[in-house]
Amino acid sequence: FQPKLLAGRRVLLTAGPTFEPLDPVRGLTNSSSGKMGFALARACAEAGAEVTLVAGPVSLPTPAAVTRIDVQTALEMRAAVLKSVAAADIFIGVAAVADYRPVQASEHKIKKTAVGSALTIEVTANPDILAEVASLPAAPFCVGFAAESQNLADYAESKRLAKKLPLVVGNLVQDGLGSDGNSVILFDDAGQHKLTPGPKMEIARGIVAHIANMLEQD
Ligand code: PMT
Repeated sequence: FQPKLLAGRRVLLTAGPTFEPLDPVRGLTNSSSGKMGFALARACAEAGAEVTLVAGPVSLPTPAAVTRIDVQTALEMRAAVLKSVAAADIFIGVAAVADYRPVQASEHKIKKTAVGSALTIEVTANPDILAEVASLPAAPFCVGFAAESQNLADYAESKRLAKKLPLVVGNLVQDGLGSDGNSVILFDDAGQHKLTPGPKMEIARGIVAHIANMLEQD
C-alpha cells in the first residue's frame, strides 16, 4: 500500500537521454536508460498524482496511469515540456539532456574519411529545459537531478543555486547511470538528506515522500 502523498497534484517529468542526429544513422547521445525517471513517474502515479512523462529514446514500458510523450532531441523535449508545463504543479527533470547538438544534421550518411584524417563536427549548446521552466513567472515546484563523477555535494548544490531550485537530487554516475539501483542525496534549503541506497523504485518513493513533505510545509 502506498499512501496518496501527491493526491490532486499534477506532475510533469523528463526521463532518459536525448539523441541529437548527425546524419540518418549517427548522433550524439549518452547512456541514460530512463530507469530512474520511469521509476519516479511510477512512484508519483502510485502517490495519486496525475503524471505526464516526456521520454527520450529508451526501451521501457510506460508505467500504469502515466501519460507518455516520446521525443528524440533536446529541442523536441523542450517543446513537449513547454506545451504541458502550464498544467503542472511539479516539474522533475530526470533526463540526461545532451548539452550539445550538431549545428547541422546531414541529410545523407556522412562518408568515411581517410584513416588517420580528422573529421570536425560543429556543435551548439542546447537550451536548458529545467532552467527555463524554473524561471517561468508561474513556475511549478521544480526538482532537478545532478549526475556527477566527483565532488557530488559541491556540484549538486551549485546547480541548485544556479537554477534557483527548491530541490536537487544528486547521484554519482557510477551509482545511477544505467543501473537498476541508485544512491542519492537530496539537497534543499535545509541541507543534505541521504536516502538509503537501493532499487530505483525505492529511491523514487523516498524522493516522492520528500517532495510531498516540502509541499506540505509551503
Ligand atoms: O536513466 P538512468 O540510467 O536511470 O540514469 C539516471 C540518471 C543518472 C540519468 C539520473 O539519475 C540523473 O542524474 N539525471 C540528470 C543527469 C544530469 O547530469 O543532468 P545535468 O547535470 O546535465 O543537468 C542538471 C539538471 O538540468 C537535470 O535535472 C537535467 O534534466 C536538467 N537539464 C540539463 C540540461 C538541459 N539542456 N536541460 C535540462 O533540463
